[in-house]
Amino acid sequence: MAERIVINEVGLRDGLQNQPRILSTEAKISLFDSLASAGLRDFELTSFVSPKAVPQLADASDVLASVKDRPGFRLTCLVPNMRGYERAKAAGAKGIAVVLATTETLNRKNINMSLTEATSVCEQVVDGAHREGIFARAYIATAFACPFEGAVAPEIVMQLAARMTQAGADEIAIADTIGAAHPKEVRLLFDPLVREYGSDRIAAHFHDTRGLGSALAWAALEAGVRRFDGSVAGLGGCPFAPGASGNVATEDLVFLFEGAGFDTGVNLDKLIDAVGKANDLIGGAHGGRILPWYRSQRAKKSAVVA
Ligand code: COA
Ligand code: ZN
Repeated sequence: MAERIVINEVGLRDGLQNQPRILSTEAKISLFDSLASAGLRDFELTSFVSPKAVPQLADASDVLASVKDRPGFRLTCLVPNMRGYERAKAAGAKGIAVVLATTETLNRKNINMSLTEATSVCEQVVDGAHREGIFARAYIATAFACPFEGAVAPEIVMQLAARMTQAGADEIAIADTIGAAHPKEVRLLFDPLVREYGSDRIAAHFHDTRGLGSALAWAALEAGVRRFDGSVAGLGGCPFAPGASGNVATEDLVFLFEGAGFDTGVNLDKLIDAVGKANDLIGGAHGGRILPWYRSQRAKKSAVVA
């Protein structure tokens, strides 16, 4: 049987938080439905952050309420502080994600905390979730480079990952927030992380800023990673980290991994329909790297059939 790879769809959070167009709750749910019918079951659905900071996700409670009782899904919601955690819990969240950046400056810009404060707040949230039976994911953001402070030493990432694990994190998501990593560095960081925590607890979150998104994912796969974040149509980016552009596209990851004989549980044809829907809703020419080629193949096939 083919080995499983889990793709966590983050388009509804990482993707939409950076779009000039604010989607209605209904539009978000309809995109969720398309992604779900393609086979995706793991989602980062929204953020319980300040609606002033991220107005695109101000309807977090409504989005969660619409899908939280569907069976078979693993849903997480990003929370930046205790207030966010309480809001998520009140809305019925069964999974949360905290964000801890590796540098002083990015924590300040993103969540208005020092690195020490952010670490301690993330520990408190993760500990609370752990005790209350809520799945807790901890992002270590800017794991390779910070747009303000430059290159990040792997030791810092290892230290923060250890702090989050000790606090009770179920999963550590290593995020190349601005897409600055090189595949060679990916191996150097993920090899020890997978050795220490195992493939079940480490996730990789890449951005395609320099066109290396798939190469980064492949390097992480070779290091033993089996959990990846992807964003439909490659939507994404952080409004507080200059230079952060789209995430590695979910469709590119599915194509990459399925082609290597892994089972992602995702039907690529149906996923491409969801990409079309995301593009219609956002109103721009988005899409992963494979999209133009995939569509041309589809057109050829239907021409033959017709
Ligand atoms: N959800 C909603 N509102 C929140 C909140 C949360 N989790 N945390 C704080 N607030 C509100 C406060 O109630 C206060 O509201 P008011 O102005 O109406 O009184 C306001 O936000 C400021 O609160 P404060 O505690 O001083 O926060 P801050 O100004 O230092 O901002 C964050 C801190 C974390 C709330 C803010 O930086 C944020 O939401 N960042 C989002 C980061 C993000 O989403 N990044 C992208 C993903 S990595
Ligand atoms: Zn991201």
